[in-house]
Amino acid sequence: MRIAILGGTGPEGAGLALRWALAGHEVIIGSRQAERARATAAELSARAKGATISGRANREAAEASQVVVLALPAAGLAATLPGVKDACRGKTVVSTVVPLTFGGPRLHTPPPAGSAAEEAQTLLGPEVKVVAAFHHIAAHELASEHPIDCDLLICGEDAAGKATVADLGKSMGLRVLDVGPLSNAGPIEGITAVLATLNRRYKIKNSGIKITGL
Ligand SMILES: NC(=O)c1ccc[n+]([C@@H]2O[C@H](COP(=O)([O-])OP(=O)(O)OC[C@H]3O[C@@H](n4cnc5c(N)ncnc54)[C@H](OP(=O)(O)O)[C@@H]3O)[C@@H](O)[C@H]2O)c1
Repeated sequence: MRIAILGGTGPEGAGLALRWALAGHEVIIGSRQAERARATAAELSARAKGATISGRANREAAEASQVVVLALPAAGLAATLPGVKDACRGKTVVSTVVPLTFGGPRLHTPPPAGSAAEEAQTLLGPEVKVVAAFHHIAAHELASEHPIDCDLLICGEDAAGKATVADLGKSMGLRVLDVGPLSNAGPIEGITAVLATLNRRYKIKNSGIKITGL
């Protein structure tokens, strides 16, 4: 699979890139600045010998890929997505985005659409199938070399898109659980605020979730 990661210069996108490249996928790091994307791609390539990782500007990365992953801050969606909308048409777009506001009265600050994933769906239009996933997989865990010890919750409207994202999750060793429609993205994103709070309170970097009873 050829995967573009928009905002892949940040820790979350770079960690996903590393795991997928090691699993044999071709990864294109996207950035607002192509040079920054190429620099991150070179750093990751040095860690994943034999992997295929390149860097391009966000739009070119999306154009060249089969699946597009959003690994940007929530505040960057409105500025970024109109410029890549055409390049994403007909593709599955994976939102890892969590709308968090640090230092304010509320950590989880969802947009009027209900969730960052639903905002992305609105900005990209109906010809793009947004799947929400990977919110609970911390960048710190992705960058490590050990197996990731938590479940991957995914949601979205498109069964084929969710199957693709499930394969991407399984390729990095995760148990993947389909939690239904994109309207469940809000609760999934919200739990990430809980995990971030646990990390701070217990001075850890990698709290995660596992669903019991299955
Ligand atoms: N960090 C984690 O552990 C973690 C875990 C789960 C989910 N997430 C979510 O994953 C996403 C990425 O997390 P991160 O920690 O990697 O974020 P980040 O470092 O803050 O940002 C990632 C990249 O996004 C680009 N960017 C920054 N501000 C932007 C803006 N206003 N408009 C467009 N692009 C912008 C930057 O790339 P360029 O300057 O190269 O364009 C930056 O390197 C976030 O939505 C976060 O909530 C993070």
